[in-house]
Amino acid sequence: DNIRYIKVADKQEAASVVLERIRAELAGGLKVLGLATGSTMEPIYAAWASSDLDFSEVTSFNLDEYVGLQADNPNSYAWFMDHHLFSKKPFKETNIPDGTSANLEEECKEYEAQLRDAGIDVQFLGVGENGHIAFNEPGTPFTSITHVTKLAESTLGVNSQYFEDRSAIPETALTMGISSILSAKKIILIAFGEKKRFALEQLTKGEETTEYPITALLGHRDVTIITDLNGIQP
Ligand code: GLP
Repeated sequence: DNIRYIKVADKQEAASVVLERIRAELAGGLKVLGLATGSTMEPIYAAWASSDLDFSEVTSFNLDEYVGLQADNPNSYAWFMDHHLFSKKPFKETNIPDGTSANLEEECKEYEAQLRDAGIDVQFLGVGENGHIAFNEPGTPFTSITHVTKLAESTLGVNSQYFEDRSAIPETALTMGISSILSAKKIILIAFGEKKRFALEQLTKGEETTEYPITALLGHRDVTIITDLNGIQP
C-alpha cells in the first residue's frame, strides 16, 4: 500500500521514530528536506536539536508562511523555524516563502521553481483540523503550485489562540500547493490528538476529494502517517 501507518504511544515516541527515520534517510543520501511548522513539529525539532544529526549538507524548504509578518514576529513561521531548529542545527541552506515580499505572486513563482529544481526527498506535513495541508484549504485544486491563499474561517479560529487580538491574525498566507507537496519523493505526516481524528478519518475513507486536502495523499506513492490516535489505521 502507498500509505503506512505508525501508531505511537505519545509525542516522545513519535519524536524518536522520526529521529531514527531521518538518521537513516541522511545515511541514504537525503539532500533536500521539506519542513512544516505548528505545535506538532515542536517535539520533533526538539529531538533533532539535541541529537547528533548533521544537517550541514541539507537544504530545506518550508511549506508556508503568513503574509505580512516580519521574521522577528514570534507568530511568523520564519521565527518558529529559527527558534525551534535553525538556530540550533546548521543547515546548508534554508528556504521559507517570504510573506513580506513586495511582489507575492513573483515570490511564489520563484519559490516553486527553486523547490522543483532542488527536488524534495522527504516532506514533513501536519494537518489542520479541517483537513488542510500546509495552507491548502478545502477546495484547493490538487494541481495547485505555490500560491497566495486566503485562510479558511475555521483556520482563523484555530489560529486565534496564538494572537492577542483577532485583528492581528493574518488572513492571507503563501503556501506550497498540493502538487508541490506531492512532488516530494516521500511524505511523512504527523498528527496528534483527538482534534485531528476527523481529518485523518477523511484519509482512511480512501476517496480523493478537494473538500479535504489531506486526501490528496492517496495519490502519492510513499506516505507515512505517524499518529498517537487509536483506531485510525484502516
Ligand atoms: C497550520 C499550518 C500547517 C500545520 C497546521 C497544524 O495551519 N499552516 O502547516 O500543519 O497548522 O498545526 P498544529 O501542528 O499546531 O496542529
